Amino acid sequence: ALVTVTELLQKAEVGNYAVGAFNCNNMEIVQAIIAAAEAEKSPVIIQASQGAIKYAGLEWIVGMVKLAADKACVPVALHLDHGTSFEQCMQCIRAGFTSVMLDGSKLSLEENIELTNRVLAAARAVGVSVEAELGKIGGTEDDITVDEREAMLTDPREAKVFVERTGVDSLAVAIGTAHGQYKGEPKLDFQRLKEIRDLVKIPIVLHGSSGVPDESVQKAISLGVRKVNIDTNIREAFTYAMRRALDEKPKEIDPRKILGPAREATIELIRQKIKVFGSKGKA
Ligand code: G3H
Ligand code: 13P
Ligand code: ZN
Ligand code: NA
Repeated sequence: ALVTVTELLQKAEVGNYAVGAFNCNNMEIVQAIIAAAEAEKSPVIIQASQGAIKYAGLEWIVGMVKLAADKACVPVALHLDHGTSFEQCMQCIRAGFTSVMLDGSKLSLEENIELTNRVLAAARAVGVSVEAELGKIGGTEDDITVDEREAMLTDPREAKVFVERTGVDSLAVAIGTAHGQYKGEPKLDFQRLKEIRDLVKIPIVLHGSSGVPDESVQKAISLGVRKVNIDTNIREAFTYAMRRALDEKPKEIDPRKILGPAREATIELIRQKIKVFGSKGKA
């Protein structure tokens, strides 16, 4: 059966490691995430964005992940990534997700607190975990100045107020990472992370982690990051392997010969990530 993200992150807190949260969009990716977690004997979070739900269908995501979790020898949680409305969170909870993210980063602080609290009240009643976001994580395509970037980062004192007024289970923070492929090397604001960590005692979530050097991810984990989100690296591993297979066998018409190598490459990528995050052997 599926477990909550809170349960996995509490253990990670004690053990001083992070649990990988991997985005899924289709069967092969779900299978790859589970296979990698089992091979490394690691707890794992499978997450689906609103876009993934639109693409694959809510019941399909839940069906595939529940089946995978029931058969798996490692604990698995199913999490909504970047839910932007109360209704989306409720739909996922009703469908069987064990964790949801309410991304209120586009709202004012007051509105973010209010909406997070509405989701929390409903989620608490059924034992589902809630992740919130404070600050704006943004995308690598965003063309912004240094000052604009600074303004997007999470304010540590605001984080303290936010957590006190919500009691949310985990907090996604903006410390210089971005969603998508980085142009250069991302610069993480570790001092800010340290200040947030000193004021906020709940597990911290790192978004946009694809393309962040392993050493930086590990430093962030040593400073309290307990959930590391990876999507872009999965897209890259999957698609590059698919393209290689198509290039090598232009006459191939069997989708299994194209998607099989893509699934294998994705397993390899996720196994690497699990080792970096320190959750290997923690299942
Ligand atoms: O945070 C973004 C994740 O990579 C999900 O992306 O909304 O295109 O599925 P998506
Ligand atoms: P990347 O696509 O940059 O790995 O970010 C993933 C993420 O933060 C999902 O919420
Ligand atoms: Zn994200
Ligand atoms: Na990224």
